[in-house]
Amino acid sequence: MRYAHIVGWGKSAPERVVTNDEIAAFVDTSDTWIRERSGIGQRHMAGAKDSCASISIAAALEALDVANISPSQLGLIIVATSTPDYAFPSTACLVQDALGADSAGAFDLSAACSGFIYGLSMASDAIKAGSCEYALVIGADVMTRLVNWADRSTCVLFGDGAGAVVLQSSDQPGGVLSTILRADGSGGDMLYVRTNFREMPANVAGQDGAAAATAPAIEEAKGIAPGHMYMNGREVFRFGVRILAGATREIIARTGWEIDQIDLLIPHQANIRILESASKSLSLPMERFYHNIEHYGNTSAASIPIAICDAVTSGRLRPNHKVVMVGFGGGLTWASAAVEWGTPRALNRANRTMNRVRLGLANVRSRARRVLRRVEDRVFGSIELSPAAPPAPAMPAPNGKSAPLAEGEPETRRQ
Ligand SMILES: CC(C)(COP(=O)(O)OP(=O)(O)OC[C@H]1O[C@@H](n2cnc3c(N)ncnc32)[C@H](O)[C@@H]1OP(=O)(O)O)[C@@H](O)C(=O)NCCC(=O)NCCS
Repeated sequence: MRYAHIVGWGKSAPERVVTNDEIAAFVDTSDTWIRERSGIGQRHMAGAKDSCASISIAAALEALDVANISPSQLGLIIVATSTPDYAFPSTACLVQDALGADSAGAFDLSAACSGFIYGLSMASDAIKAGSCEYALVIGADVMTRLVNWADRSTCVLFGDGAGAVVLQSSDQPGGVLSTILRADGSGGDMLYVRTNFREMPANVAGQDGAAAATAPAIEEAKGIAPGHMYMNGREVFRFGVRILAGATREIIARTGWEIDQIDLLIPHQANIRILESASKSLSLPMERFYHNIEHYGNTSAASIPIAICDAVTSGRLRPNHKVVMVGFGGGLTWASAAVEWGTPRALNRANRTMNRVRLGLANVRSRARRVLRRVEDRVFGSIELSPAAPPAPAMPAPNGKSAPLAEGEPETRRQ
């Protein structure tokens, strides 16, 4: 029988920290209100050079170091995010390219704040089925780019960050023992972000009205700008309390654990009061709940993997611990996992250094492949395709720096 063990973990949060007082300077709120109602003291905020991909790559590198493996050993990369840099290519493909993970399949997963546990479930199932030996699961979000900074009921709650774990196949019992995934789309209008796609003309191919007919019926969206979050805070709060307690009971029943056997419960970090209510409902003391919301706010898909890293560093998460993780959020979605924590590997500094060298080589290889494709296009393009397509503008690198202009590329890219 195959098991999927978590053997590596890493996190990344943008440098810039925004305190409650800073937000209170431009929105009608206060440090006291935010702390009392949510437990949040500060959050990290992505700067111009940060992107979903750049923080994902940084977290992934840390996780590979802890796992003591090279990127080429990965068979699967999943990035759970609601704030990807592109609709496609996926953030996972950007991570794959940056790491030089040349044996990995890569895709993004959209399940809002439950995304990391959804990804963990997909990856552990793939490992248990024998599809791959190592998998990388990342939860990453730049939530500060989609909150409405004039809406005090949401903008105070969210922050940016990424967390990653490496899963490894093993015949030793332990690791991710069971997962449960759930959704209730009827609650989609409680928490959502509308994209621009719905407003795009639908009559190009004579399909006038098709978009309106197939779009989800979230009519309350009127008045909320595309790209901005809408949240019914009180309803979501009640949902969170109900799910955190209910999903914990369900996953331990499936795993065969009793509630008092849980050494650590790592919940989605949405609001400290949701954790306190679940603690009462489950009769599980708050000391068994891990929380770091005071430092990061709600980082959506990143909140659980960041909490894993901090729990390990602070000694709260130790070998042989029975751990329950519960995510919940937009969709509505929720998910839980029961994990038996393993023994960390000794950090191998040589592998760590090699992974930095490999990162540089992956960058060179990626650029070489782009150049090769352009050459191929010049040589063969006009034979197979006519008329020749104009050269595509280069994508910016994940760290915000633009790739160098290629010969013949439009001048507008210089602006
Ligand atoms: C958003 C949340 C913190 C609000 O806390 P609450 O105790 O429910 O507060 P209410 O929504 O009842 O609002 C109480 C009052 O505070 C006000 N208020 C809201 N945000 C405020 C802020 N940032 N600062 C000061 N006052 C605020 C409201 O306008 C309201 O004023 P009113 O009574 O004059 O109408 C809470 O509902 C929550 O955390 N919900 C879940 C959010 C969540 O977890 N989302 C992500 C899930 S993945």
